[in-house]
Amino acid sequence: MTKEKSLDELPLMETHEGIVLFHPNIPKNAVQYLENVLNTRWIGQGPRVEEFEHMFNSKFAYPCKSLAVGSGTDALHLSYLLADIQPDDEVIVPVFTCTATNIPLLYIGAKIVFCDIDENLNIDANAIEDLITEKTKAIVCVHYGGLPCDMDKLWELGRKYDLKIIEDAAHALGARYKGKIIGSESDFSMFSFQAIKHVTTGDGGMLTIKDPELVEKAKRLRWFGIDRLKKQKGIWENDIVEVGYKYQMTDLAAVLGIASLEEFDEHLEHRQRLYKKYCEVLAGVEGIRIIGAEYEDREHAAWLLTAEVDDRDNFMRHLRNHDIESAQVHYRNDRYTIFGGRQEGKFPNMDRMEDRYIVLPLHAKVTECDVERIAEVIRKGW
Ligand SMILES: Cc1ncc(COP(=O)(O)O)c(C=O)c1O
Repeated sequence: MTKEKSLDELPLMETHEGIVLFHPNIPKNAVQYLENVLNTRWIGQGPRVEEFEHMFNSKFAYPCKSLAVGSGTDALHLSYLLADIQPDDEVIVPVFTCTATNIPLLYIGAKIVFCDIDENLNIDANAIEDLITEKTKAIVCVHYGGLPCDMDKLWELGRKYDLKIIEDAAHALGARYKGKIIGSESDFSMFSFQAIKHVTTGDGGMLTIKDPELVEKAKRLRWFGIDRLKKQKGIWENDIVEVGYKYQMTDLAAVLGIASLEEFDEHLEHRQRLYKKYCEVLAGVEGIRIIGAEYEDREHAAWLLTAEVDDRDNFMRHLRNHDIESAQVHYRNDRYTIFGGRQEGKFPNMDRMEDRYIVLPLHAKVTECDVERIAEVIRKGW
């Protein structure tokens, strides 16, 4: 009989040991494109960054404008600055997300107002209005796992109270809401190209901006507050009148992004096929429900396969005893001291889900046979 493993004894698995939770998606042209860049004068921010921005923009963001940056977190920070969020302004955010959604608000000194989640772990659009005060400046939503939030309600609140709507679409590249591609509608949307996202540039991100008048400012904030074009023309005496950051993307990163976009449609289809397969093979299995599966007006980007399960610890141990990784990935953010600590009883849906959600393997290396195997293990019971 296999010895039951304790949860504390579950270090990350190696790829050859079983079905791992995440794996980078490296496109076939990556090495060639990197070699080409390494043989040019530009390895930092150069012409390939602009090429990547154009490619991205026409596919995901038009009529917004796209700005490539060093990480998704950089993109979020820039969006908060461009939304003119000031110290003590209030910003409504979901209580359940990656900490990267919220930490840049602390850079600014804004007040984070957590909102409960819905049954799909997205922000509960019906709970937002009660949180709006005179100090509210923006609403940030996160399309958790790749399922778009209830955007009509958010845009309506934005119009009604004159608030900026910022979409954290780190998980949602290629997702659609009522036919509209995510990234093309709100004041700001951000994407992440960190190691295990649909598109990876090692680390990187994209900010899409609705107001064309903010684009030049965004470019300056991306690079110390300096107008790079003027500098490149040799005009060194241009003043710096705003504090900027070093948030640019490099050409090395951009070519990885370009190579990934060339294969994006196939990759998204693969992920969506696996998601659908999980739904089929786990339909009717007692004690498990797949999150975010029941929407006809939204196209899921299938970054994460998250399920709600009974007895999560035993579920994880059971999978691991069969060499299958699983994890929570993100945690409720009010557990962290930097965000003020736990707010007991304020988020009933979060409280109910806290010990029940689990993420299962779904990525470029997972096959439909792997999903069948995972389902077989689950069906044995845990
Ligand atoms: C929901 C969410 N927002 C923001 C980020 C930050 O993106 P990055 O890691 O590219 O800075 C991540 C993480 O990858 C994320 O999962």
